This record gives sequence, structure tokens and C-alpha cells, in this order.
Amino acid sequence: MLDKYKDVTGFLKEIRSIRKFNSIPVDQEILEDIVDCARLAPNAKNIQPWEFIAITNKDKLKKLANFHKSANFLEGASAAIVVFCDKEATEYFLEDGCAATQTILIAANLHGLKSCWIAGAKGLYQEEDIAWCEGVPCKPMPKYVEDAENLNKTLNVPLNYALISMVALGYSDEKPEVKKRSLEDVIHWQEF
Ligand SMILES: Cc1cc2nc3c(=O)[nH]c(=O)nc-3n(C[C@H](O)[C@H](O)[C@H](O)COP(=O)(O)O)c2cc1C
Repeated sequence: MLDKYKDVTGFLKEIRSIRKFNSIPVDQEILEDIVDCARLAPNAKNIQPWEFIAITNKDKLKKLANFHKSANFLEGASAAIVVFCDKEATEYFLEDGCAATQTILIAANLHGLKSCWIAGAKGLYQEEDIAWCEGVPCKPMPKYVEDAENLNKTLNVPLNYALISMVALGYSDEKPEVKKRSLEDVIHWQEF
């Protein structure tokens, strides 16, 4: 239906999460430009609570890959940009960090890279570590908190910074088919 806008927004619609990369390295300057885009992302009250750690070192990527189960493919990425936000600086640190993360994905893909958003320290990705209270997950268990703290320590990040996301980056020819809800299903006019 909206094919006539393919030249305008088609690129954005084709961005998918990619988890398998070839061994071509990512130029430092490209990583710099991606972070330059991310630092300009919208954020509440323009506090800009973020810090970005660009990682190309294979040992470091391997350490990050061990952070949680859904991060394991990071080991095979050529680079990562890890997003932290100062949780003491603004109550919107999570939203701000997510806006920056989405900007990283778009900038990376504009550079011809492929990417995948990897969850940060939300605590729900290691099911065996979650305590259940009357069928509802409770606060993250101490082990998870310990893991998040260790990750900060691995990257020398002060503990008032929350890990928002890790973006895996690299080159790839993968073109996964992903089921998406249709426009008709999700769009509402004037009311639900
Ligand atoms: C907040 C958030 C956390 C995510 N965490 C992970 C993750 O830890 N590991 C992973 O492989 N993908 C992760 N993803 C990527 C999603 O799995 C992916 O966006 C979703 O399956 C839709 O696929 P698509 O991006 O290719 O359209 C995350 C995405 C978001 C927005």
C-alpha cells in the first residue's frame, strides 16, 4: 500500500537485527561517526546522561558475550557500542539511552553495517536467576545485580551508570525474514 514511499522510508523498514557477522573489521572513524549521531539523539530535558564505549578488542567482546544468554553472538561481532546512562542524572535515563541506541542502529545501517540491539541490565534475560513472587518476577536477584556490577567493572564504568544496551556491529549478508504485525493491525485513528 505504501510502496510509493519506498525511496523515502524503505531503507528504515529493511533494518533487521543481525546476529552473524563476517570477519571484516569496522573502521574506527565509522564508529566515531555512529557515536556522533547517538550523542545528538533526543533526550528528556537535554541532560544527555549517556556515555558510549566503542569496543573492537576481541577479548573484551568475548567478555561482554558472557554477560547473558542472549548476548552470546557478540563474540562473533567485529565491534560493539555499549550505551550507559547516569541513572542519578535523570529519571528518564532509560528512555534517553534507548533513543541513543535506536540512533546507533540507524547510523550503523546507513554506514552499510549490520547490527543487533542487546539488552542491558534489565534483569529478565537470565530466567534461572529470577525470583518469582506469586507468578510475577520480583526485583533482579542479587546474582544478577552482581553480574551487572561486574560488567561495569570490566569496562571501568562507575556504578551509578546503568547499562542500557550493547549494540553488536559488523558486516553481514544475512537477510532474515521476521514476522511483523501489519500496519492495519497496529494503526488507530483518533482512538483505539
Ligand atoms: C530492548 C531490546 C532488547 C533486545 N535484546 C536482545 C538481546 O539481548 N539479544 C538479541 O539477540 N536480540 C535482542 N533484541 C533484538 C530483538 O530480538 C529484535 O529487535 C526483534 O526480535 C525483532 O527483530 P528485528 O529487529 O529483526 O525486526 C532486543 C531488542 C530490543 C528493542
